[in-house]
Amino acid sequence: MLETMRAVFQNTYGGPDVLQVGEQPDPIVGPDFVLVRVRAAGVNPVDFKVREGYLQGAFPSFLPNIPGWDAAGVVEAVGPAVHDLSVGDEVLGYLRKDFVRDGTYAELVSASSRHLALKPPQVSFTDAAALPLAGLTALQSLEAVKVHAGDTVLVHAGAGGVGHFAVQIAKARGARVLATAGKGNHEYLRSLGAEPVLYGEGLVDAVRALAPEGVDAAVDYIGGEAIRQSAELAKNVRRTASNVDPALTAEVGGIYCFVVPNALQLAQLVAMVDEGSIKVNVQETFALERAADAQRLVEGGHVRGKVVITV
Ligand SMILES: NC(=O)c1ccc[n+]([C@@H]2O[C@H](COP(=O)([O-])OP(=O)(O)OC[C@H]3O[C@@H](n4cnc5c(N)ncnc54)[C@H](OP(=O)(O)O)[C@@H]3O)[C@@H](O)[C@H]2O)c1
Repeated sequence: MLETMRAVFQNTYGGPDVLQVGEQPDPIVGPDFVLVRVRAAGVNPVDFKVREGYLQGAFPSFLPNIPGWDAAGVVEAVGPAVHDLSVGDEVLGYLRKDFVRDGTYAELVSASSRHLALKPPQVSFTDAAALPLAGLTALQSLEAVKVHAGDTVLVHAGAGGVGHFAVQIAKARGARVLATAGKGNHEYLRSLGAEPVLYGEGLVDAVRALAPEGVDAAVDYIGGEAIRQSAELAKNVRRTASNVDPALTAEVGGIYCFVVPNALQLAQLVAMVDEGSIKVNVQETFALERAADAQRLVEGGHVRGKVVITV
């Protein structure tokens, strides 16, 4: 008989109410996979896009689906070909597979050992679960536009999950950072070392007032007008990136980025958290039973930093 675990799952696509909590079969652990006992699962906007069914054209998608691509937890078992991780190791990872089904909002998840990094003991499971997808997105888009010391960089949505990591990584690389947010997040952005700019109509003028020559690079985590504003403000449009709208990004000549799992980069991010150059901001945690509320909060579009589900 199959063993089961407690998990959040959906049998149909739709709003937050399609999420149920109950028993699901334990994950299958392939030869080069490990089984992770999840202690915390990060919530990302992609989770509600999957829930609504929007990713069916992008990945083979199956129901019932367990949501979630981020996890931190403890290795419970290892496949016979895994030699770099052991039972009891504390790990974190961006655990997107090539299909959508067996996510992280669960007591157990299977993970390729190539997608995991070790969690230092002094970093909490909650902070660790908040880091992988958003941190890798920030790092990979900043690398796509080649941010380096001395650059002036514009970060759209600098107070959000991806943005708050991007601001801190760009600062750590020695860049000057201008970041957009609503008024209520300007003091927070200053605390991260960024110069805050209000988004909306006056954004281009406000950035020009701070950087009359324009910006060396721009990264976007909100989409829409922000992509055009990046193109208008950048000295070189090939140093603008967006993670939100591939068509519009291509139209203006920028670079569309899609985050890929990368254990080496994840280990770099973990080291930055460990040494204090990245501070993870978790706005709120929710128990597994309240996953729908966690997604509702993220869907509202105004989270500062991250939302995490504890298991
Ligand atoms: N392609 C990829 O690989 C990839 C990877 C990760 C994320 N994404 C996408 O990138 C987007 C951001 O992800 P996330 O996790 O950072 O989301 P998030 O944490 O939900 O973003 C929330 C932030 O957005 C800010 N915001 C809201 N309206 C804004 C506007 N008009 N201009 C600037 N900022 C605004 C809010 O600031 P205020 O509260 O101050 O308004 C809030 O801090 C999502 O669409 C997500 O799906 C794509």
